Amino acid sequence: MNEAYLERKASLMEFSHLSPDEAFDSFHKRISHYESIYEPLSKERNLILVDSFEGCILQEQISDVIPYHDRIRDIITTRIVSNLFLLRHGETYFNLEDRIGGDSDLTEKGLSQARALAEYFAGVPIPIIFTSNYKRTLQTAAAIAEKQHECSIIALPEFNEIHAGLCEGMTYKEIREKMPHVANARNRNKFSYVYPMGEGYATMEKRVHRGLHKVFYLSNYNDNIMIVGHRAVNRMILSDFVFRPKEEVPYIYMPQNRYYHLQIDHYKKHFELKSFMRGAEANLPA
Ligand code: G3H
Repeated sequence: MNEAYLERKASLMEFSHLSPDEAFDSFHKRISHYESIYEPLSKERNLILVDSFEGCILQEQISDVIPYHDRIRDIITTRIVSNLFLLRHGETYFNLEDRIGGDSDLTEKGLSQARALAEYFAGVPIPIIFTSNYKRTLQTAAAIAEKQHECSIIALPEFNEIHAGLCEGMTYKEIREKMPHVANARNRNKFSYVYPMGEGYATMEKRVHRGLHKVFYLSNYNDNIMIVGHRAVNRMILSDFVFRPKEEVPYIYMPQNRYYHLQIDHYKKHFELKSFMRGAEANLPA
């Protein structure tokens, strides 16, 4: 054991009742005791090495018949989600023109969708709403937060919408006409395709995953969690919980007038697309 390390430990407040020599002595005794009882992991007959951050098993060595082994494995690797509300921002001026990217404001209809969300979730305590850095998610979240008792908004760059590079601000029609090679290549493999000077679903995967880690860490793993995101980002978030073949992820249905409710525990993985609008509007496709 490094002496400098022991010196630093011995100077902590909790050892202030001991002289430096006594603190050193007490540490050395403790270390000798640990050494005398230590059993190296290599001698273990049964061992599961876990990455608790990622919730996955790194190494498994089971020599005996362990009762409920499958169950233990399941408990270690299941991320418990009490309630995750995955929302898309309300309608924007860019949405009206079928334009991608940019940092557009909500339209009147978008603001009324945000108000409808606020009413709908008014009785559900949401301590934190996670958004991207874009105005459309922040404006939607601000309306919801206004109807909550205590609610903060945390914007995560990891949840920014897919960056369309040279195609930012263009409509899908303009891309087809002016950059047909982009439209065709994207059509052939939408998941792997990366926009020139921009991103693709595949290249967003890591950052979205990192964003989710922040969400769980900041919300203490057990609160009602709300994310107000974007079409492509929300598809990636959903696919983090519910397995979909990669080629299907860019086509997951992600409307603006409904939201996904996810609940995951050791017994079930439940996800449901729910409406928050009232009356006839609730059934309109978005
Ligand atoms: O602005 C980008 C779009 O919301 C992403 O949708 O991947 O289906 O083109 P897309």
